[in-house]
Amino acid sequence: METIVAGNWKMHHGPAETHSFLDRFTAEAAGDGVRLLLFVPALSVAAARARLGAGAGIGLGVQNVHWEAAGAFTGEISAEMARGAGADFALVGHSERRQLFGETDAETARKAAAVRRAGMTPVVCVGETLEERVAGRLQEVVGGQLRPVLETYGRTPHGAAGAGSLPLMIAYEPVWAIGTGRTATPEDAGAAHAFIRARLAGSLGAARGACVPILYGGSVHAANARELLDVPEVNGVLVGGASLDPGSFAGIASAASGRESS
Ligand code: 13P
Repeated sequence: METIVAGNWKMHHGPAETHSFLDRFTAEAAGDGVRLLLFVPALSVAAARARLGAGAGIGLGVQNVHWEAAGAFTGEISAEMARGAGADFALVGHSERRQLFGETDAETARKAAAVRRAGMTPVVCVGETLEERVAGRLQEVVGGQLRPVLETYGRTPHGAAGAGSLPLMIAYEPVWAIGTGRTATPEDAGAAHAFIRARLAGSLGAARGACVPILYGGSVHAANARELLDVPEVNGVLVGGASLDPGSFAGIASAASGRESS
């Protein structure tokens, strides 16, 4: 499986800053076997797509969509609109959406289904709070976040294209590690990823479950990326703050290069 290095810009970098980032970022920092993704603000997707062209080596995504294709939902954007603007991926269920905007596990599943409906790949974010971890509830919480999403895949035949084409990625982002400078230890990340992998296999079958990349997110930067990516269960990283600067994101991409994920 290729190693994924994804940046989540959150509410940073409008169209002008997106142009300037892409002028300064060299995708060559990522060697063979590394796939780059950028989750930009919805308003910056068209600018990024225009700058990258159709077949560039950087995948483009949005950070949130509504589950309906269109309608009276003031301020929302649909997966179809994101797709039309040039996105191929969408984050769903980021912990900031869950915590600050009250998104539920069921809504996350509807959003993931909408992203697939529009022909894009959802990157479903899961993760426990510190309180939940300390209370020994990691598996209950993360399992509960995964279940409604995986049920929709379980019911859908994966079609003739084969198991490798399943449009799904998972990002394990412990809430206590996001934006705090605290990173999960390689052991903690490995254990959580192994649990998620087992749930994927249980719901999707071993072959389909094995093809879904599981990314780690939470205070990843150039100096700790390699250590996390050396964990066999970690298939990539989802980077917030350290993806905003082209040099720092390139540093993470180059740290990931040459490493073969299991
Ligand atoms: P930080 O890398 O800033 O901790 O953010 C992680 C994150 O939320 C990525 O989606």
